[in-house]
Amino acid sequence: MGLSTSSVITLHVNGEKHTLPVDHRTTLLDALRERLDLTGTKKGCDQGQCGACTVLVDGRRTVACLQLAVAAEGREITTIEGVADGDRLHPVQQAFIDLDGYQCGYCTPGQICSAIGMLAEHAAGWPSAASGDIRPAVGPTPLTPEEIRERMSGNLCRCSAYTSIVEAVARAAEADASSAARVPEQSGEAAV
Ligand code: FES
Ligand code: FES
Repeated sequence: MGLSTSSVITLHVNGEKHTLPVDHRTTLLDALRERLDLTGTKKGCDQGQCGACTVLVDGRRTVACLQLAVAAEGREITTIEGVADGDRLHPVQQAFIDLDGYQCGYCTPGQICSAIGMLAEHAAGWPSAASGDIRPAVGPTPLTPEEIRERMSGNLCRCSAYTSIVEAVARAAEADASSAARVPEQSGEAAV
């Protein structure tokens, strides 16, 4: 008897549960886009180099093209479709709009999800390669433009809107650090 190459899995996405059969080789990115019609998450390189496919998995930013859907089963996945609070945009979304943090917009969902995850990492005290003195006595590392650039370096923008992206992330962080780092609550159930 041959080994099975597919499984029925349940993905928790933006507060809803989706039960679906998948080939074991299906990436989380393809499951989101092609099976659940959540096309806000973009495919750029499909090999982990551009960040366009960034989503949040259990609150941590993750490139969905490098994660198998079966490995995401039972974890809380948040895509760009799920970051707003009803009609109220997430502070990072609002800052990107207010400061024109995009041109064509293709990289933007990944930039926003990555920024939300990054702000949570910073709020939790995680250092980056750009951080200076990280001894606890020195206090939190300021979120300078250099820090933002380093921490967002996994998200490429072919339009090179980097100046505005950095300004938008800084604005979101300043406006409301706690809510900007907020990862949306999730609940509910649905099946496909
Ligand atoms: S599409 Fe996933 S990192 Fe480029
Ligand atoms: S806004 Fe066009 S790729 Fe970033």
